Amino acid sequence: QTEILPLSDPEAERRAEALLRAGDLVALPTETVYGLAADSGSGAAVAKIFEAKGRPRFNPLICHVDGLAMAKRIAVVDDLAFRLVEQFWPGPLTLVLPATAETPVHPLAMAGLPTVAVRMPRGVAARLAGRLDRPIVAPSANPSGRVTGTSAEAVARGLSGRIPLILDGGPSLVGVESTILRPLAGRLVMLRAGGISRDELSAAMGVTVEDPADGAPIAAPGGLASHYAPEGRVRLDADAIEPGEFVIAFGPDRPAGLENAAAIVNLSPGGDLREAAANLFAALSAFDSARVERIAVAPIPRSGLGEAINDRLKRAAAPR
Ligand code: TXA
Ligand code: MG
Repeated sequence: QTEILPLSDPEAERRAEALLRAGDLVALPTETVYGLAADSGSGAAVAKIFEAKGRPRFNPLICHVDGLAMAKRIAVVDDLAFRLVEQFWPGPLTLVLPATAETPVHPLAMAGLPTVAVRMPRGVAARLAGRLDRPIVAPSANPSGRVTGTSAEAVARGLSGRIPLILDGGPSLVGVESTILRPLAGRLVMLRAGGISRDELSAAMGVTVEDPADGAPIAAPGGLASHYAPEGRVRLDADAIEPGEFVIAFGPDRPAGLENAAAIVNLSPGGDLREAAANLFAALSAFDSARVERIAVAPIPRSGLGEAINDRLKRAAAPR
């Protein structure tokens, strides 16, 4: 039986803390997407995450900290990383850094890698890390490979019965996962596009944000081709709608044949990419829970947050 408690409930945070201390899982909101949280120091608790999500064990988890001091207990923060922390934490930026020798993070959470992914989220996840005085590991709160949860209801649809508690903080603000960045010898490599755009990072740091070299060993192991997948088939860059398709639209332009659509969700009628990111997974999830078979997605610009949106859509449409 899964309980859903609103964050505004004065008992909510204490209940979550008690469950985490007991080695149990709690789904909770972050500013990006909902996370499925566990105590990073407990192998048994971390194992429950992989079980509940059906997640492959080679895919490491992100450690959520309450600030720089806690980050330094698990990771080596060099000058470049420090400047990123100063500018972008708390916020949707995850850094992949060398793990410290004395890290309290269980090796299962790191999938045996010598590096660790660290981020400081806004809100309850950071507060709970503070209460435990230890990082909290939290992948997105959805069955592995499926549409990411951006509301308590969506999380419940995917994980109900498999976890004791969901904290309900309303719809996620950002709506796509954090940007994952690997600062390395003065360079910045983006392992996953996300809630902070490439341009924003480049401008703030005065360094071009690069893509991983082909075949580089440092790509995010979770970057599998098929991911974020609804049950139905997803067709991208649809300029013309085929009769009976369920349409994800963007901006004021009407794709040809829109009158034949079975239903239309516009991610942002005004053409705002931030708004579109915030609405993306809710739209996919709505079509998914209606067991829709054919989804057509109108072209979405690739600038700014459009890079993360198109990345998620490409994976949602990938053959599986
Ligand atoms: O916004 C987010 O990042 C959300 C919220 C809940 O914080 N979390 C999230 O976690 O998206 P997850 O598990 O769905 O994605 C984590 C990604 C995976 O692709 C994983 O492979 C990558 O981070 N990752 C973790 N540790 C890594 C490491 N040491 N090196 C490279 N990639 C790593
Ligand atoms: Mg995920």
